Parts: sequence; structure tokens; C-alpha cells
Amino acid sequence: MIGKLLMAQTMFMLAAALPLACLPSQPVEAVEGGSVTLQCRLDPPIDLSSKTVEWNRGPNRYVHVYRSQRDDPDSQMLQYRDRTALNHGDLTRGVLTLTISNVSLSDNGSYEVYLPKLEVTCLTHLTVVTKDQENQTKRNDSSTTAPPAGERNDASNREAGRATIILTVFLILSVLVVLLVLKSGKTRDGWRRSEEGRTEMLGNEPK
Ligand SMILES: *[C@@H]1O[C@H](CO)[C@@H](O)[C@H](O)[C@H]1NC(C)=O
Ligand SMILES: *[C@@H]1O[C@H](CO)[C@@H](O)[C@H](O)[C@H]1NC(C)=O
Ligand SMILES: *[C@@H]1O[C@H](CO)[C@@H](O)[C@H](O)[C@H]1NC(C)=O
Ligand SMILES: *[C@@H]1O[C@H](CO)[C@@H](O)[C@H](O)[C@H]1NC(C)=O
Repeated sequence: MIGKLLMAQTMFMLAAALPLACLPSQPVEAVEGGSVTLQCRLDPPIDLSSKTVEWNRGPNRYVHVYRSQRDDPDSQMLQYRDRTALNHGDLTRGVLTLTISNVSLSDNGSYEVYLPKLEVTCLTHLTVVTKDQENQTKRNDSSTTAPPAGERNDASNREAGRATIILTVFLILSVLVVLLVLKSGKTRDGWRRSEEGRTEMLGNEPK
């Protein structure tokens, strides 16, 4: 009996000591005029439907507030009026899902979840791009389906290397020929000597 009580108490203390972590999603990107979903999740998951939930962008800069089991639009900044939706079904699973519609460039920045009763905060980031930037990114994405620039450079480098070798060999041969001609021109019996040279060369050939 005493053992059971001790164990129950230990379990209770462990549960109380377990840190409640809030895990943000990866930074999210949104296009101006579109909608975007920000998400954080509690670990371990606990039912938040009866807790107060704040999404804010700093002290007293409320994006969306949920208290007394319902949304409280009166507290939110005018710039987010009628543009936010908190998923109430996810709240029961300890997941904080906020959807912002008609995103504007001024929505760019960090967003914080704050759960006052649990003293838990969670920071996530939203990057808003213009339609122009979105189109540019898409173009760059589609251009990566072509062979990567590195490979193309390798191929042309190999060709250039081959051309250089051929040119060098050709130049060396030309210089040798010019030198031979000059040398044979300087010696009085150049023709005979060069004949001899040729004979030697021909004679060496079969070896
Ligand atoms: C979206 O927001 C812009 C201002 O950022 C506003 O001019 C426009 O009317 C809004 N569109 C909708 C459908 O609410
Ligand atoms: C958008 O917000 C991110 C942080 O979430 C910040 O790093 C970036 O500089 C901001 N961009 C603009 C244009 O304000
Ligand atoms: C971006 O591209 C879409 C089609 O892919 C086009 O309808 C839209 O007008 C473009 N926006 C801008 C700002 O260029
Ligand atoms: C896409 O390419 C354009 C130039 O073609 C460049 O200005 C822009 O920064 C690139 N965007 C990304 C996301 O790489």
C-alpha cells in the first residue's frame, strides 16, 4: 500500500518535472496574396482546447488569440482582422495550426506561440515573397532540369584540353622543322647531310 502510494507520487513528480517542449515547424515561405499555415506542436501532446493560446509578433502585437474556448478577434491587430484561422481540432492534440490568408509583405517575420498558463513559447518564421520573386524562383527551378553547369564545363574543359595538346604538338613539330631547315641551310653541304640524316632515319626505321 505504502509502496503503491510512493510510486504514484513519484510518477506525479516525474510528470510535473517533464519539460513541455513546443516544436516549431521549419520556416515557411508564402507568396503575397496567397495563404499560409504556421504550425507548432507540443511534446508531449496535451489537450489545449481549454487553455489560452496566443499567436503574436511581440509584446501586445497579437495575430490571433484563443481564450475561454473560443477565438477572441477583438484582441488581434487590425492588420490581421478576418485573415486568421486557428484550427480548433488540432488544439485537442496539442498542435497549434494557424492559417493566414491574403498574405501581404508586411506579414513577413517571426511569429510566436505563447501559452500563458503553461509558460511555453515557440518561435516560427514566415518569409513572404512577391509574385515576381516566386516566378523567378520557378524559372530557376525549371532551368536545373538541364545538365548541371559543372558537367557542361567539364565536357568543354576536356575538349579545350585536347585542342591545347594538339596545338602544342603541332607547334613543337613546326619549330623542329624550322630549326632543321635553318640548320641545313647554314651548312654548305646541307643537302647531303640532310640526305644522310634521312638515310639514317630510314635505316633505323625497321628496328
Ligand atoms: C488582400 O489584401 C490587400 C491589402 O494587402 C487588399 O487590398 C485586398 O483587398 C485583400 N484581398 C482580399 C480578397 O481580401
Ligand atoms: C523576412 O523575415 C525573415 C525572418 O523571418 C527575415 O530574416 C527577413 O530579413 C525578412 N525579410 C524582409 C524583406 O523583411
Ligand atoms: C507569374 O507567372 C504566372 C504564370 O506562371 C503569370 O500568370 C503571372 O502573371 C506572373 N506574375 C508576374 C508578376 O510576373
Ligand atoms: C533566379 O535567377 C535570377 C536571375 O535569372 C536571380 O536574379 C534570382 O536571384 C534567382 N533566384 C533564386 C531564388 O535563385
